[in-house]
Amino acid sequence: MCGIVGYIGTLNAYAFLIQGLKKLEYRGYDSAGIAVVDKTAKIFKCKGGITDLEKHIGNQNVAGNIGIGHTRWATHGEPDSRNAHPHASMNAKFILVHNGIIENYAELKCELQKHGYLFQSDTDTEVLVNLMEYFYQKSADSTCEIAVRLALSKVVGAFGIAVICADEKDQLIVARRGSPLVIGIGDNAFFVASDASPIISFSENLIYLNDNDVAIVTPTNLTLKTVDNTPVPFNITKNGMTIGEVEKGEFDHYMLKEVFEQPETIFNTFRGRISPDHSAIKLGGLMAVFPKLIKARRIIIIGCGTSLHAGLIGEYLIEAYARIPVEVEYASEFRYRNPILTVDDVVIAISQSGETADTLAALRLAKESGATVLGICNVAGSSIARETDAGVFTHAGVEIGVASTKAFSAQVTVLTLLALSLASEKGEITQDLYQLLIQELINIPDKIRTILAKHPLIRSIAEKYKEANSALYLGRGNLFPVALEGALKLKEISYIHAEGYAAGEMKHGPIALVDNNLPVVVVAAKDEYYAKIVSNIHEIKARKGNIIAVVTQGDSSLKEMVNDLFEIPESHPLVTPLLAIIPLQLFAYYMALNRGCDVDQPRNLAKSVTVE
Ligand code: AGP
Repeated sequence: MCGIVGYIGTLNAYAFLIQGLKKLEYRGYDSAGIAVVDKTAKIFKCKGGITDLEKHIGNQNVAGNIGIGHTRWATHGEPDSRNAHPHASMNAKFILVHNGIIENYAELKCELQKHGYLFQSDTDTEVLVNLMEYFYQKSADSTCEIAVRLALSKVVGAFGIAVICADEKDQLIVARRGSPLVIGIGDNAFFVASDASPIISFSENLIYLNDNDVAIVTPTNLTLKTVDNTPVPFNITKNGMTIGEVEKGEFDHYMLKEVFEQPETIFNTFRGRISPDHSAIKLGGLMAVFPKLIKARRIIIIGCGTSLHAGLIGEYLIEAYARIPVEVEYASEFRYRNPILTVDDVVIAISQSGETADTLAALRLAKESGATVLGICNVAGSSIARETDAGVFTHAGVEIGVASTKAFSAQVTVLTLLALSLASEKGEITQDLYQLLIQELINIPDKIRTILAKHPLIRSIAEKYKEANSALYLGRGNLFPVALEGALKLKEISYIHAEGYAAGEMKHGPIALVDNNLPVVVVAAKDEYYAKIVSNIHEIKARKGNIIAVVTQGDSSLKEMVNDLFEIPESHPLVTPLLAIIPLQLFAYYMALNRGCDVDQPRNLAKSVTVE
């Protein structure tokens, strides 16, 4: 994804454009650029981030009270200055910044070339800006707005755009379909951005554009209509809140918002990767390296924290279904222990931020050894996403809460898709089982919604344990990493010491911890390990441990043995981790709340650990 900004008003546009782009840099920073309009329009753009752009501009004159800007994650064309935005049309009638993908750009480009249009870049965006010029010059009575709307009506795909017109320099045209855009209303000024963060300190009145909205903006007026020229009333959202509140909507914390976003997150992660008839999975980003994955001597998954826990679930799933050997390693250990790697190994780096120093260093080490290195990342344009040979984006959207929740679910979803597609490709599972398991995954978002609807029950359970000083989390099989992740959530936001353990390990030491002060969270959903974990519950009960059990809907057999029970919908064991983690995320959230902790910015932590 990319970030775009725009300004039109009585002040110099430059300051807002640069500061705004810096706030949007999380959206990708392969290249960046701005265009400002004084008497004429000037474009400044270069490869790299916003600071590189500032250096590139140096002391050049950037006067002008109209401007647009862009920070890019390359989709079409190399991340270099030639492909950087803004793009001007061939006769410089239009200048455009664009976030999105023009799916039919090739045929549009072909048509424009027949009309003599020449192209300077490999981007789909340059096709769109020339299409605007084509319609503008096609008829004498055309206006810039008409030309823009006509061009957009020909587009198949997504766009969030801001357009400057050379012949109508007193206006900006802004439009969206599929890529977010917000307009802030200032004093004789309007601010445009891909999200509210660049705007919020300049305006408390926000207009969130909807798909197919086109806004024609002058310093003193905003007209809103659709691409097909239907007038649209606009709703002003009073933000009056901090940057966080605007993005938090009705939630008290980012983390809670992101926990509740998980049904949509998981849908967005598998959307477009499961065939319309739900019979097959295709991870487009891995197609080129799929043969290497199929033939891999070993898959090594590297990551840190929550991402490592997702990797552990991936290990269980890939080995169980695709029968490919998998090892999971802490990136911080892997990078220093001089591991034995060969060209027949495939290393998968999992990282929400794509910037974690240990994971980045570990993948660089793997690359040096000749292994194929893949990424599962959430941030386009991040270092890990760019340095791997191929990869899969989790599409979880921006995750702002330091405690990772929706990104974890998205990572597990990608790993589930990978395990199933490898298993099918290798003939390790029948087509019937393949389709059944795909359907199980498709059913997950709705099942998570039923869990989320019961969040008050989890809140009441958390209330009972808010004085706890320690906690134990137990699980078996692919629910053991869920126990690890649940323990991590609790410790990182409530500061309660919590340990996740393989339940079978209890008798090798941890059971000595059990007494009537110790809450023990047991992930005891119905699967092949169920009878074993019930035995563990008996062992804990015999020592007066306080047991909080996560069980499968309708399983009342443990009711008398445990102190608190939370039911999750029945599911195939393949996808149970995606359900079992939800109550543990909410439990950690409410425990932290009960203890007055800063849920979104816990002490000592950072969202992305870009240093060792
Ligand atoms: C998870 O809640 C933590 N914030 C932390 O463990 C995190 O998962 C870890 O730092 C890895 O981050 P990454 O996924 O961005 O690489």
